[in-house]
Amino acid sequence: MTLRGRFITFEGIDGAGKSTHIEAVAEVLRAQGTPVLLTREPGGTPLAEKLRELFLHEPMDALTEALLVFAARLDHLHTRIAPALAAGTTVLCDRFTDATFAYQGAGRGFDLAVLATLEQWVQQGIQPDLTLWFDVPPAVAAQRRTAAREPDRMEREAEAFFERVRSGYAARCAAAPGRIVRIDADAELSVVRAAVLEALDRISGRAEPGDA
Ligand SMILES: Nc1ncnc2c1ncn2[C@@H]1O[C@H](COP(=O)(O)OP(=O)(O)OP(=O)(O)O)[C@@H](O)[C@H]1O
Ligand SMILES: [Mg+2]
Repeated sequence: MTLRGRFITFEGIDGAGKSTHIEAVAEVLRAQGTPVLLTREPGGTPLAEKLRELFLHEPMDALTEALLVFAARLDHLHTRIAPALAAGTTVLCDRFTDATFAYQGAGRGFDLAVLATLEQWVQQGIQPDLTLWFDVPPAVAAQRRTAAREPDRMEREAEAFFERVRSGYAARCAAAPGRIVRIDADAELSVVRAAVLEALDRISGRAEPGDA
């Protein structure tokens, strides 16, 4: 598996296993000598991490959520992600724009056309090369979260909210099947990990000229 300058995002509802697997992938790539930037959204820069704190803990409406998260994304893209990709670093990002469509769009019911406009405006054509969608029933994710930590503002939402978010991810996956790979995350860690590595192999075949 050779990945250089690739942009890979990790998606799914809270408790699906994103953070667990992003760390494992970073380890695998680093062991192969691939330079890796491991980052997350909202966040990834000093400004965006401040916006993340507001986003996770202050009550706000869906439009404010969407604008905050895209403001954070613009800073993150300009100051960290794009320079890393240009330098040949593989960027692993824990959540990205699919999460905005799933949470603020499908979850909160915010206008998808407005989100698509913000996406174009902020990303200027930059899209992940590969997105791993960790799909798990909300009840399973809730059990994992309860075992792991105290809930934040999103995590206190009801199961019905996470069902809508899950269907939002399914819609994004259906609309971009070449980019988004659904990983069945309702399985033993080792089984999920094998599926993740297999998905990564899919893009390692698409090496750029000059890639080792
Ligand atoms: N396949 C699995 N089987 C059992 N437990 C798992 C599995 N994957 C992850 N977990 C556990 O579930 C908990 C949540 O996983 P993790 O933090 O990776 O989820 P996440 O998708 O990053 O959640 P969040 O969006 O809230 O950050 C952790 O305690 C993790 O060890
Ligand atoms: Mg996480």
